[in-house]
Amino acid sequence: MGVTLPASWLRHPFARTSFTIGSVEQIRRIREAGFDWVYVDSAEEESGSGPAELTETTREIVTILESENIPPEEKARTVYGLTERVVSAVFNDPTPENILAASGVAQALAYAVSTDAAVAGSLALVSSYDRVTYEHSVRVGCLAICLAARLAGASGAAHVAAAAPGYLLHDIGKVTLPLDLLNKAGPLNAMERALMRRHPSEGHRILSERGELDPVCALVALQHHERADGQGYPLGLRGDQIEPMARVCSVADVFDALTGPRPYRQPLRPFDALELMRREMLHHFQREVFAEFVLLLGERRAA
Ligand SMILES: [Fe+2]
Repeated sequence: MGVTLPASWLRHPFARTSFTIGSVEQIRRIREAGFDWVYVDSAEEESGSGPAELTETTREIVTILESENIPPEEKARTVYGLTERVVSAVFNDPTPENILAASGVAQALAYAVSTDAAVAGSLALVSSYDRVTYEHSVRVGCLAICLAARLAGASGAAHVAAAAPGYLLHDIGKVTLPLDLLNKAGPLNAMERALMRRHPSEGHRILSERGELDPVCALVALQHHERADGQGYPLGLRGDQIEPMARVCSVADVFDALTGPRPYRQPLRPFDALELMRREMLHHFQREVFAEFVLLLGERRAA
């Protein structure tokens, strides 16, 4: 199995950062060097340029994030663009290889924002206002990764990295819905709404079938529309019944919906969206998660 360590060559005792694992002894040595997890090179045995190129993107992201010469804002902007590329590949063609490639990118992001607050702040800022170039999944994915990293602290980086693919792919279940439903400009009728509400369960199914992903990823997809007061779907779960990582995703998802264009209203500015969420929707969220989200966006804007 080909793997890449989540640290630069200067910070580990091995001859190379990417290499092939062939024995249990090698795994033991990786653990002894302080690594709880590594990037798995999913494209190593694949032919063709697609997945290999996408896995290359993960390496490119790791290199950029670990560079000491690139300012945090530039790192965030570049990494965000590369992330958009791999996520759009999954939505165009949700093959196991593309899902794994996007997972590698999500884990690289999670590791970076868990250990570098400046990159996290910049990435959150880019993700919170850029509406032209990038799609919903990337914005919500990046915001949720930054928020989860902030809540978990540096010691929780491995947990955030495990959930990160779920954040980027939380809406992957939408690939099973008809395109004319997804693109419909007007309000949905009852039947269309029922169909649309299937995307969390479909996303759970798709991500569960990928045994390589942590089960929390499928739970994030399943529960990102659940609400703390039980008013969400598909199961109407309440409070602690909702997976903590999914509660993080729901805050980022609602914020993105409010700041995006809708057929019958103008997009809200980020500050106004936060104010509306605080005033009218606080019962939907875990309060600590929402408070941390306000800090995540607010601190950076004030800087
Ligand atoms: Fe969704």
